[in-house]
Amino acid sequence: MKHVLEILEERRAEARLGGGQGRIDAQHKKGKLTARERIELLLDHGSFEEYDMFVQQRCTDFGMDQAAKIPGDGVVTGWGTVNGRTVYVFAKDFTVLGGSLSETHAGKITKLQDMALKNRAPIIGLFDAGGARIQEGVAALGGYGEVFQRNVIASGVIPQISLIMGPCAGGDVYSPAMTDFIFMVKDTSYMFVTGPDVVKTVTNENVTAEELGGASVHATKSSIADRAYENDVEALLQMRRLIDFLPASNRDDVPEWPSFDDSDRSDLSLDTLVPDNPNKPYDMKELILKIVDEGDFFEIQEAHAKNIVTGFARIDGRSVGIVANQPMVLAGVLDSDASRKAARFVRFCDAFSIPLVTFVDVPGFLPGTAQEYGGLIKHGAKLLYAYAEATVPKITIITRKAFGGAYVVMASKHLRGDVNYAWPSAQIAVMGAKGAVEIIFRQDIGDAEKIAARTKEYEERFLSPFVAAERGYIDEVIMPHGTRRRISRALAALRHKELENPWKKHDNIPL
Ligand code: HXC
Repeated sequence: MKHVLEILEERRAEARLGGGQGRIDAQHKKGKLTARERIELLLDHGSFEEYDMFVQQRCTDFGMDQAAKIPGDGVVTGWGTVNGRTVYVFAKDFTVLGGSLSETHAGKITKLQDMALKNRAPIIGLFDAGGARIQEGVAALGGYGEVFQRNVIASGVIPQISLIMGPCAGGDVYSPAMTDFIFMVKDTSYMFVTGPDVVKTVTNENVTAEELGGASVHATKSSIADRAYENDVEALLQMRRLIDFLPASNRDDVPEWPSFDDSDRSDLSLDTLVPDNPNKPYDMKELILKIVDEGDFFEIQEAHAKNIVTGFARIDGRSVGIVANQPMVLAGVLDSDASRKAARFVRFCDAFSIPLVTFVDVPGFLPGTAQEYGGLIKHGAKLLYAYAEATVPKITIITRKAFGGAYVVMASKHLRGDVNYAWPSAQIAVMGAKGAVEIIFRQDIGDAEKIAARTKEYEERFLSPFVAAERGYIDEVIMPHGTRRRISRALAALRHKELENPWKKHDNIPL
């Protein structure tokens, strides 16, 4: 018996070495951890249960039958816990044939995807790989297809998270693209469909990997990445933080953690947050941090479309999704990027029963050819659609401007907002006073005195929360300092909200 136990230990030790000590050292030299070290950091200590450690590739082409059969075949798979809650995880092992995907490697991932879906728990993929195993050809392509299909089936059922921690090219990019969130590590990770060499051949462009698909590009310009972190350790610890906000599946309630923040806590500084001058910005993030439990806010797409802020927080220990216009950037206007960013976030929250809290200060949609040619109508409609179809509790607080179509879009009463509050500083109107007067009193434009009088008249009549409140579009005008208490009470009242959209095969959101 002793002998077989020793054999098992030996085989495990061999598998744990992956591509060997030399390649592990090379990985460390690049500032990267190995697949197993990453999993150790991601999961609760000692909770990882590994599967398929001894799986080997079966390819016989291009000398692969002669090549070393490395147990595990370039991906480490299994499950463990994050703060006691089950998550499934796979981590590409770059030390084994560059983490490339073979048929057997894909089989390990799909087995794990099936388990995560069956057992209704989140799945996290850690990527660090060179794409399809080139020696395997179409078998590797088929493997990718199997993974993609499962990504789609699991979408909206269990949270799927991708963390890019090294190269991620070719077939490897499309699985993350279909998961709920993509995070990257700065300087050591990059993502692209085709690399710099192919780009040079096809388009004659000279770009580095970082310029083509580094975290600096994807977290800002392309919005492929939801956030970028300084190094492997920070990224993995932040994934633990994110998991704490998410329900295990679309049938589970949001997690509830002990909160040491009084739900009645009022904040008098909020009474003076909005400046008297309506053209002066203020920081919406200050408001968010002052309202949510312990100022803990996990921002999504922090560096992209900064004119809208999205992220997870808690009220009374339970997760909420926050969406807020940011007056500090482009006066908080809605443009194509902001609309797409918020629409995707709203849909995630709705799919996973995370109540939405929306803070509104929006002067409208951004005018101009750049926006119109870029499809603002369809992109703006995405956000409108997302809010309108959402059935989760929706609480909206208008802090200042809520003008025109943007007023309607931002979780208004008309889109089934459950509780719609306005601060006394709110201005709910079809547009700002200057634009309105110049249109309806066009004949007076040369007369500065008349225009000033008309502007004042318009401001007094429409630029307040009361016209909307008179119609019941606003449930109550509230004091800013009591906003946390109001939200907490509204969430409690909405805890058992029931609302269903009519049956359909699926909707047809303007893509
Ligand atoms: C087989 C691979 C591999 C791959 C890397 N390796 N990628 N083996 N298939 N796709 C091997 C290397 O041969 C090398 O083995 C080891 O992994 C480490 O790779 P290096 O090149 O030494 O590392 P590095 O210099 O860091 O470069 C990493 C890299 C590069 C940028 C990822 O390896 C690379 O460009 N790989 C190929 C990328 C690619 O074109 N993939 C196919 C995409 S097509 P040795 O033994 O020499 O150390 C695709 C289509 C799928 O994915 C579409 C599905 C829809």
